Amino acid sequence: MTKVLLLVAHPDYENSVGNKTITIALAELPNVNVRNLADLYPDFKIDVAAEQKALLESDLIILQYPIYWYNMPPILKQWFDKVFAYGFAFGDGAKLTNKTIMASVTAGSPENSYPEGEMKRIMLPVKASAEFCKINYLEPLASYGIYSSPNQDEASKASVLASAQAHINKLITIITNYKF
Ligand SMILES: Cc1cc2nc3c(=O)[nH]c(=O)nc-3n(C[C@H](O)[C@H](O)[C@H](O)COP(=O)(O)O)c2cc1C
Repeated sequence: MTKVLLLVAHPDYENSVGNKTITIALAELPNVNVRNLADLYPDFKIDVAAEQKALLESDLIILQYPIYWYNMPPILKQWFDKVFAYGFAFGDGAKLTNKTIMASVTAGSPENSYPEGEMKRIMLPVKASAEFCKINYLEPLASYGIYSSPNQDEASKASVLASAQAHINKLITIITNYKF
């Protein structure tokens, strides 16, 4: 069974709807190890050894986060900066070459506000990092129109939850069908 590492990076997880719904559902799967980075490292002091161990124990690394200003939240960037070290992620003794990585993201804007190919372009730093480290790269799974606001009506809340559920179903299909 594919061993999955779900790295959750949400600066305000408590108030998340999309990423929290997705994380809770994925945590139910026996082969998914969830690491909630903002929870583990509120001070941004990443335990590099623990993160590297979790990576070595996984086959498929899923980066789960909301798109913030067309980018990843800072805790995930900090994770890359600290964990993807020389001798571990690249260079002599690189250890991630048989792994696969994929971003699983939520975006507040509707899909039609993203020009064709835009999400793939936003992901280029993840893709280039994967290629640099000789990690297999899967194109991102993105769900759009996922947001919450104080004045949100019931129909809009229901639509967000339906999108999150559709995202969960797609993620489970990817995990189940992916062959290494
Ligand atoms: C600081 C900030 C920046 C954001 N930037 C974007 C953006 O660039 N594109 C977009 O589609 N949504 C953007 N959003 C909306 C978030 O992507 C959306 O709130 C999130 O995906 C909802 O997931 P959640 O329920 O897990 O919080 C932004 C939200 C915040 C708070």
